[in-house]
Amino acid sequence: MAVFHTSNREETVALGRRLAAKLAPGALVAFTGGLGMGKTAFSQGIAEGLGCTDPVSSPTFAIVNYYRGPRPMAHFDLYRIHSEEDLYTAGFYEYLDEGAVVAAEWSESFAALLDAENPVRVDIRPGAGPDDREIEIEGVEL
Ligand SMILES: Nc1ncnc2c1ncn2[C@@H]1O[C@H](COP(=O)(O)OP(=O)(O)OP(=O)(O)O)[C@@H](O)[C@H]1O
Ligand SMILES: [Mg+2]
Repeated sequence: MAVFHTSNREETVALGRRLAAKLAPGALVAFTGGLGMGKTAFSQGIAEGLGCTDPVSSPTFAIVNYYRGPRPMAHFDLYRIHSEEDLYTAGFYEYLDEGAVVAAEWSESFAALLDAENPVRVDIRPGAGPDDREIEIEGVEL
């Protein structure tokens, strides 16, 4: 486990790019952290690091956005998913089985279930100033 500090969006994106280099196919990145903490920004960095060139937007309305590339990424918002059945229906496990990197925002309510996938956990917390963030990464060495 390690804690990183960022003080603007670009630094958080850059940390995501760094993490991407360490992710195996089918890796799960489980985000926790409140509204507007930078989960989507971090996911943008992961996508960039994986070689996906499309801009990453919030999957809030779609539940999942899929990014093609040399190393594809499926980007989930679990906020409106409430059961394991809904996770299956949304294709969550298929993406993992296919070897996509799965980035999952709002993983709080699925913590126990997702443990089975050996997730990399990324928790983003407020820092001292409005743009400061404390980002705890567990499950991989950066
Ligand atoms: N250090 C920082 N890291 C990331 N984003 C930052 C930082 N400082 C300021 N920001 C701003 O905070 C916002 C983060 O938005 P983002 O959509 O990435 O967060 P989120 O956690 O995915 O939000 P949501 O809870 O809606 O899913 C952006 O407007 C970004 O510019
Ligand atoms: Mg988001």
